Amino acid sequence: MLSERTALITGASSGFGLLTTITLARRGWRVLATMRDLARREKLEAAAREAGVLERIEFLALDVTDNVQIAELAASIAARPVALHAVVNNAGFAMAGFAEDVSDAELRRQFDTNFFGAAAVTRAFLPQLRRQGHGHIVMVTSGSGRMGFPGVGSYVASKFALEGWTETLRLEMKAVGIQVALVEPGSFETDIWTRNALLSTGTRDTQSPNAARVARWRSRMDANTNKKANPQIVAAAIANLLETSHPRLRTVVGSDIKLGLWLRRLLPWSVFERIVTKAAGLDG
Ligand SMILES: NC(=O)c1ccc[n+]([C@@H]2O[C@H](COP(=O)([O-])OP(=O)(O)OC[C@H]3O[C@@H](n4cnc5c(N)ncnc54)[C@H](OP(=O)(O)O)[C@@H]3O)[C@@H](O)[C@H]2O)c1
Repeated sequence: MLSERTALITGASSGFGLLTTITLARRGWRVLATMRDLARREKLEAAAREAGVLERIEFLALDVTDNVQIAELAASIAARPVALHAVVNNAGFAMAGFAEDVSDAELRRQFDTNFFGAAAVTRAFLPQLRRQGHGHIVMVTSGSGRMGFPGVGSYVASKFALEGWTETLRLEMKAVGIQVALVEPGSFETDIWTRNALLSTGTRDTQSPNAARVARWRSRMDANTNKKANPQIVAAAIANLLETSHPRLRTVVGSDIKLGLWLRRLLPWSVFERIVTKAAGLDG
């Protein structure tokens, strides 16, 4: 077991954030488990109790779209007499809807959490990591940060943006001793597909020129819902990255996205896009 190291995680109330919290705590880390609504802490609390690691976890309020709350939390953690070893930007959600039907407000809402939220949290904790001269920053992006997929253009755009920002940050921080890395999961069984899934208003509009296509797309997506992988694999990958002194830039997790990226690299684009549009029910 490691001597106690401290990690801060955003979006720890469910999914990857919850599992990463438990995984790190089991490995001897102290975890600052942040969530936008502390009333939703029960699931993590119960899992931590069951794993016998509750005393290693601190529950803290953080909505990544609230810049005042971010600044106050960063200041209070910087004032502690212990180092912060890692920040995991995990909080996120997916706005579904065809690009033509997603409003500007909906697109901005998607970016506010997935891109601006992660960037703001990172900037707030960088001064402390810089002073320490060490620290890991992990961004949970997605396979959707590497390739587009019909019906989730807003989500894809927010993750592409985060990929570009993070790749740049890594180059800027290399000589400072701060390790910056990306985790790119494929499809895993978490609340992102259910409780946290948002469908844009325009996509629900039966007058939309895409209405029939959306119905086909949704039934194709629903048919795939049973095929998602165990999210513990992602939690383990994040924990492994935090315990690697010089992690690589990208860690792709999941056989579906590994296959997708491999096909995209090898196949002629015209063949690849036929496969993708067929998978999304948009081939006719
Ligand atoms: N599951 C997948 O297949 C998959 C694949 C690729 C990438 N990802 C990425 O993985 C990350 C975690 O998602 P997940 O799959 O674990 O889904 P999840 O179970 O829905 O967890 C998302 C977490 O983010 C939190 N969150 C949402 N908006 C927030 C905000 N403004 N401030 C703070 N927290 C906020 C949620 O809080 P509440 O509990 O309050 O809603 C929840 O704790 C996301 O960035 C997602 O894009 C997921």
